[in-house]
Formats: sequence, structure tokens, C-alpha cells
Amino acid sequence: MIKKFSSRRDFFGAALSLAAAPAALADAPRRDAPPLKSLTNAPMGCSTNLVALKDPAYAALLLRNFSQVTPEYEMKMNPITHTDGRLNFTLADNFMGFARQNRLRVHATTLVWYKHQPPYFMGLDGKGQVFADAYRNYLLTVVGRYRGQVVGWDVVNEPVWTDGTRLRDSLWSSNLGAEDYMMLAFEYAKQADPNAVLFINEFDLERLPRKRATFLNLVERLLKRGAKIDGIGTQSHVNINLPQGASTLTMRDLAALGLKIHVSELDVSLGRADRDNRSMDDKLKLQSAKAWEVVDAFMNLPASQRYALTMWGLMDKNTWLRQLPGREHDEPLAFYDDGQPKPMFWAMADRLKTR
Ligand code: XIL
Repeated sequence: MIKKFSSRRDFFGAALSLAAAPAALADAPRRDAPPLKSLTNAPMGCSTNLVALKDPAYAALLLRNFSQVTPEYEMKMNPITHTDGRLNFTLADNFMGFARQNRLRVHATTLVWYKHQPPYFMGLDGKGQVFADAYRNYLLTVVGRYRGQVVGWDVVNEPVWTDGTRLRDSLWSSNLGAEDYMMLAFEYAKQADPNAVLFINEFDLERLPRKRATFLNLVERLLKRGAKIDGIGTQSHVNINLPQGASTLTMRDLAALGLKIHVSELDVSLGRADRDNRSMDDKLKLQSAKAWEVVDAFMNLPASQRYALTMWGLMDKNTWLRQLPGREHDEPLAFYDDGQPKPMFWAMADRLKTR
């Protein structure tokens, strides 16, 4: 069958999907921005938080474009765990309430992460069975509370050392065992919500091949030991200097295990303006090309492996990167601060709809 292209853009979109990234797509913005979620059957996600959602214009843009949300903060361990060990679900429940009212799917993050080591658990450090019991109780209670209400969970987040050379040390690994803490987390999560899709989530998998190898070896070992891992989350915090092809290659490697894939935290950093004198136009073109490649790699997966594609923030002003030193002016997302779609939006939209 001969494929018909209704426009030159469609033609380029299709042609480019076989080859290089779409420099042509970074051109003039159009007004008729289609909702991203209308372009594909795959769930389109966005991270969000209760503070941002108070702004009606923000909420409207989010709801127009996305079918799934990830709580940026509300379901993590620190906000849930009181210093005395009681669990506080106020923020998490409010978040779930917003999602329910607006019929959004929720991907929850994160159960076990080295960056959230609440004071209560620190106080149990070295206490053997007491620590293990508190860990078990946390996982069963939190996952059980949202059983049937979330689509999936990041069960273990960032288990590999930043540079990819080895596994990460944390309160969890030192008390429960280097890999046993992960085995236990998946076991309890599955027990508490048998239908939730359970993920192991990691970053820099496309930038650091060695980290990708360490991560995939870990996943294979855990699976061999019987871990109930349903999916791989690839955060996809990339930047405009990522070599072309890196995201494609990474997606192939990750997908080879046959698990579901979540592009879980996509943003494309422009890097530090003070160290890069390329024009903004050039940077936005590169940004579009990187985002396009990630979407292309995701859309090339078999439908059964496409869990979701999630942006880590809505408008540039919402990005977490601006909380980092030297990154206060980064613009890594698909919408400008006034809600207008960026070239990156159009690149993503074109690839989402081409097949
Ligand atoms: C970030 C949030 O976006 C920030 O608002 C918060 O201050 C810190 O956490 N990798 C992850 C996410 O797995 O959970 C992080 O989210 C961003 C990096």
C-alpha cells in the first residue's frame, strides 16, 4: 500500500523516522497544537505536584495534553514517614484525589530510593530485625493503600552508583543486603498490589554505556532470583549534547529483556548557558532532535512493551533542574512558560502521530 502524506511535514516526519533526527521540525510554531495524548494509544505522562496544580492555567494545560501523572514528591518516602514512624498520607491522598477527579492514570514514585532515607529509618540503622520489619511494614502499607488505584510503582529507584561502576550503597543496602533490599521490595510490593506494574528505574543509561551494562546485569540477576519486576524505567534526563543514536541504542538494549518500558522522566537540558555560546535557535533544534529520538525509540517498541512516556515537568518554569546550582535558567521541557508549545513539542507530536 502506498502511504499518503497529507502534508510536507508528515512526509518529513515519516522519512526522518527511518533516519536522522528532524532539524526541519524546529521551525515556526503552529497554533493548532494537538493534545499530545490524542496522538497515540500509548499513555502520555507528566510529573506534577500539588503546589503547581493550584494554578488553573497549569492544570488545564496538563489535562489537555496528558493521560497519566507521576507525583513529583507526594508519594516519596520522606513526606510519608513521620519522625516517630507513623505514616502520613495527606499529600499522597490529595494527589490521588486530583487524579481520580480528572480520570488520570497514576504512576507512583518511589518506594525505595537512596535519596529518601527518613530520620525514622536512620534511627533504626543497625537494628537488624526491627529495621527489616519497619521496611516490610512501609512497603506493604503504602502499596496496599493504593492497591488498584495506581497503574504502577517505581519500586527501586537509582540502584546503580552514579558513575555506573557498581551498585549504590544506601541505608537500605547496608541493613538488608546489597541486592536483597531490592528482592524484598519487589516481593512486598507484589504481595500488596498484585496488579500494579512494578518498575526498577535508573538514569543516565543512554549517556553511560557502562552504567547501562551494570544496570541490565543487575536486572537479570534479580529476575533470575525470582524478583517480580515487570518493567524498566529509563528516566531519560538527557541533554542537547547527547550523541545521536544513543537513545535508540539504549532503548534496544533495555527492551531486549522483554519487560515493559517506561520513559519515566524525560527532559532535554540545554546545559549551562554561561558555558555554551551557540544560539538559542540552534539549541532548540538540538533539543527537538533529542526529544524526537527518544519518542521514536519508544514508539518503535512493540505495543505490549510501551508502558508510558512521561515528561518530567510541564512548562520550563516547572523543571526540577532549576533547583540545581548553575541550572537556574535551563529550559528542558516541551512548553514555554506561557504554555505555548516549543519546537520540541512539535518534534514529539510529529513522531507520535506518524505511525
Ligand atoms: C525530583 C523532583 O522533581 C524535585 O522536585 C525534588 O526536589 C527532587 O526530586 N530523579 C528522580 C526523581 O527519580 O524522583 C527526581 O525528582 C528527579 C531525578
